[in-house]
Amino acid sequence: MDLMEKIVSLSKRRGFIFPGSEIYGGLANSWDFGPLGVELKNNIKKEWWKRFVQSREDIVGIETALIMNPKVWEASGHLKTFSDPLADCKECRERFRADQLKNKKKCPSCGGQLTAARQFNLMFKTFIGPSEESANVAYFRPETAQGMFVNFEQVVNSTRKRLPFGIAQVGKAFRNEITPGNFIFRTREFEQMEIEYFIKKEDWEKQFEKWLKEMKQWIKHLGIATKNVEVIDIPKKELAHYSKRTVDIFYKFPFGHEELYGLAYRSDFDLKNHNQSYQDPQTGKQFVPHVIEPTWGVERTVLAVMVESYKEEKVKGETRVVMNFPNWLAPYKVAILPLSKKAPLTKLAKGIYKDLLPHFVCEYDETQSIGKRYRRQDEIGTPFCITVDFDSPKKKDVTVRDRRTMKQKRVKINKLQQYLNETL
Ligand code: GAP
Repeated sequence: MDLMEKIVSLSKRRGFIFPGSEIYGGLANSWDFGPLGVELKNNIKKEWWKRFVQSREDIVGIETALIMNPKVWEASGHLKTFSDPLADCKECRERFRADQLKNKKKCPSCGGQLTAARQFNLMFKTFIGPSEESANVAYFRPETAQGMFVNFEQVVNSTRKRLPFGIAQVGKAFRNEITPGNFIFRTREFEQMEIEYFIKKEDWEKQFEKWLKEMKQWIKHLGIATKNVEVIDIPKKELAHYSKRTVDIFYKFPFGHEELYGLAYRSDFDLKNHNQSYQDPQTGKQFVPHVIEPTWGVERTVLAVMVESYKEEKVKGETRVVMNFPNWLAPYKVAILPLSKKAPLTKLAKGIYKDLLPHFVCEYDETQSIGKRYRRQDEIGTPFCITVDFDSPKKKDVTVRDRRTMKQKRVKINKLQQYLNETL
């Protein structure tokens, strides 16, 4: 099995990510997040929000509708230009992104003849209300960004923020991708964490560099090694319709170096198109601010941290699989494991579990041998296992096993919460 297969299999077996609608034969390239996956995803989103919104004076958050007035997409240029070239095979009917094909005439699957490429708009179309008429056409948003642009003046008026400042949003985006794939890397429904950082035009280069640094620091915070990350400047002719400069931050995924995040200088393109402007409180001058946009994909973050954290080690002739997540990312922080399924050990262990639950995301597990339970917790990246053993009821202490070192330490039960707080 290659690394991706191992991660897909572990994800399903342990409850990180399940194939979507599986009991009905699945739905190609759709994925559901299980009990562990949703914790991991929420840890990413919560940490991002704390770091970039709540801990900063210059950024505020918003949450806008998934379906916006179609005029938004007209003004933003998405209706006209948010498309990929599509080619079909005349023999096997498979569809391809024409710009990704080496031979534009021959089908890479069956060798059949391909149609000429035509532009395919990636926005998901729907209808508002009961009648499917063209007047009622609407679109699921393909990026969260437009929510920040169309609310620019409302945010300025309600918060009295002054340039430079940012508006942030975390939420779903939808794209009718021609070639989704590579597990959760490219899907038709995904989440973005985006900031529109509004600036004066003359500051764009300085702010661009600042944000690139911020993004690199975030990647480090995820536990991702710098050697696995590459910053690529997008050539001018490949820039998105709104961008004056974009860098893509690539990660070394098992299927190749691919985009993890992006950073774009969108100039005043969007605010201008939405007729939004800003009045300088000092000079009284009215103008359209420019914008730097750092953007992060949530699912790509999940995939990158899983790839980066996955380790296999030989321990006493057996393979130990460990998810070496940084502690803040781990879905469960603590597992409570009694050595026997009987009282008084279970009673004591359940008491510890109930005491810790309000403070840490914990799991209680009394099934199987202790060795198997440790392996399971290693595989899901739990930093600490608390073992309640036969000495525990008398001595009022337990062992705490560290996932990284596998070393165990005896800790008094009444000091457990403090010990975990300090070490986590
Ligand atoms: N507002 C700018 C924007 O949407 P983008 O590069 O098209 O820029 C931003 O998307 C991020 O969203 C990407 O860097 C990636 O992390 C994530 N992303 C884009 N398309 C995706 C897809 N089909 N599946 C999963 N994540 C995707």
